[in-house]
Parts: sequence; structure tokens; C-alpha cells
Amino acid sequence: MSSQSGKQIVKQPAGKFQLYGIFGHPLGHTLSPRMQEAGFKALGLKAFYVPLDLARFRFVRLMRRLPKLVLDGFNVTVPYKEDAARMLKKILEPEAAAVGAVNTVFKKNGRWRAANTDVFGFGLALKKKGRFNVRGAKAVVLGAGGAARAAVYALAGGGAREIVVCNRHKPRAILLVRNFRRLFPKVCLTAEALEREAVARHLASAGLIVNTTSVGLKPGEAPVIPRAWMPRASSGRKKLFYDLVYRPVQTVFLQNAKSLGHRTLGGAEMLLYQGVRAFELWTGRRAPESAMRRALWEGLKEAPKR
Ligand SMILES: NC(=O)c1ccc[n+]([C@@H]2O[C@H](COP(=O)([O-])OP(=O)(O)OC[C@H]3O[C@@H](n4cnc5c(N)ncnc54)[C@H](OP(=O)(O)O)[C@@H]3O)[C@@H](O)[C@H]2O)c1
Repeated sequence: MSSQSGKQIVKQPAGKFQLYGIFGHPLGHTLSPRMQEAGFKALGLKAFYVPLDLARFRFVRLMRRLPKLVLDGFNVTVPYKEDAARMLKKILEPEAAAVGAVNTVFKKNGRWRAANTDVFGFGLALKKKGRFNVRGAKAVVLGAGGAARAAVYALAGGGAREIVVCNRHKPRAILLVRNFRRLFPKVCLTAEALEREAVARHLASAGLIVNTTSVGLKPGEAPVIPRAWMPRASSGRKKLFYDLVYRPVQTVFLQNAKSLGHRTLGGAEMLLYQGVRAFELWTGRRAPESAMRRALWEGLKEAPKR
């Protein structure tokens, strides 16, 4: 964990509290407030975290006035992550610049910085919960949106040998691959359409298959790829299927992979670790991971607010 040796770098004057928040629209679904507030409570910090459900023009206006913002730090979620990267381009951390999306804004030595902790969350969940070693691996990434860019950055940065990006609209996958080839010239990056022949061929030789599309969120929705495109696990050669969708916890995509003998990982752990990283950037303290995980899972068990 990248905490700064547990040392508090943000000193709170007596009586003063810290204020954090999350910008997005709509925000009825967000589990971040309960997860972050559980973290603050576990460490006895005087801090609050509020949902800030704003129309785009209001969000844009606030980002233009960032130095005047009363918040001590904030998250950005759907649909404003790319807007934030465009508006905060002078203060981007390297991974946020490469991914083209910002989900965490924090202060470093009194100056605002814009980060993408989805990259960190994706990678740490894969390592700790997925027990998957990326180095030298072949991965198939389904989807080519913001979450796919975070996944590809984490995989390429982690030393993957080959990454295949399959998207419904292939030109978007081609664009993604072209951008990342410049950053990671040693990784074999290819783009494919989300079609049976190509997907099934690459699935057969990949160790990791990641769903980064939004397919699977809606009840009764068909999975992003049918079960018939997935290979059966051969003895001792299980693949890891990783779905970034976290609600439902067990998507049909993961159920199908499991029924064919593979290992699975849902999106909740990535959600936890992106939040853990944000917490540490804001507070300078090691995040209380188990308290935050508990709060997150309690929220996941409840019906989502619409
Ligand atoms: N677990 C976490 O912490 C975490 C973090 C970030 C995101 N996520 C999840 O990741 C998902 C994607 O987020 P995003 O920000 O990448 O969204 P995005 O930028 O809007 O990208 C959406 C992707 O889904 C694909 N897609 C949408 N509908 C499809 C369909 N019916 N069939 C096939 N492909 C379809 C799109 O393909 P086209 O380009 O062809 O339209 C695109 O590749 C969301 O479910 C989000 O909740 C999870």
C-alpha cells in the first residue's frame, strides 16, 4: 500500500473539520460517502463527505474556480471524469493524463492535483483479491471507454505482455490502442471488434479477461459476451474473469465464467481500492481498509437508490 508510512501530513487545527465530496450526476447509486465516512470515523478524523449532484454547467463553473473551492478534496464520477481531465489539464498526475479521466482531486503541499485512482484500484484488486500476476500475461479487455483506459494503463504499466481491446465500436478500440502504444511500446496492443471469432480466439490464449463495459448493470440484461464464446477451463489452467461492474455483485458474465470452471473477481474490490487511495491522498493517513470494506459491502447488500 502506498500510504506515506502512516504519517499524518494534514494537520487539523482543533475544532476545524475537513470537507470532502463527490461530483457526478445522478448520484443516487454512489457508495463513496458511506465508505469514506466509515474511514474517517475509524481514524477519529473530523471530516465529512457529501454527494454533490450537479448539472454539467455547474460542475464546469466550479472547476474553473477551483482555487476558491471550500472542499479539502473530492471525487469525480460518471459522467464528469473526462470533463475534469480536460478542465484540470494543468494539474494532472501522469496516470490521469494518460487515461484522460480524473476521479480524485487532492491538495499536495497546498496545491491542487488531479489523479486517477481507478488505475490503482484496478491493479491492487487484481493483485490482492484476484491473486493475478500481470507480468508477462495476456489480457483481453472488453470495452474501450474510461474504465478500459484505466485498466489498460494498469495492465501495461504492470508488465503485461499482450493486451487485446475488444469494443462494440471498433474505431474506439483502435484509438485507445494507438494512444497506449506510444506510452508502452514494448507491450503488444491490438484492437478488435466485439465479435465471436476474434473474441473467442483471444480468450483461448488469455489468462485474464476483463469486462470494462457497462453491460451487466441492468437486471435481466444479457452479458457482454455470450457463454458460448467462453472456453471451458482445462485442468490446472483456470483463467481469471474480472468484471468492473460491482452491482450486482455476481454478474451473469461472472456466473457464466464460474460455471465453466474459471476464477472470478467482481468490481467491488476495485471500488474499495480506488477509494482507499483517494482517502490516503486526502488525509496522508493509511486508510482503514477493513472499516471501509465493511461499509461498502453493507451498502452493496442494500437495494440501490434510483
Ligand atoms: N469497479 C469500479 O471501481 C469501477 C470504476 C470505474 C468504472 N466502473 C464501471 O465500468 C463500467 C464502464 O464505465 P466507463 O466509465 O468506462 O463508461 P464509458 O466510458 O461510457 O464506456 C462504456 C463502454 O461500454 C460499452 N458498451 C456500452 N453498452 C454496450 C453494449 N450494449 N454492448 C457492448 N458494449 C457496450 C461501450 O462501447 P461503445 O464504445 O461501443 O459504445 C464502451 O466501451 C461502468 O459499469 C462503471 O460502473 C467500475
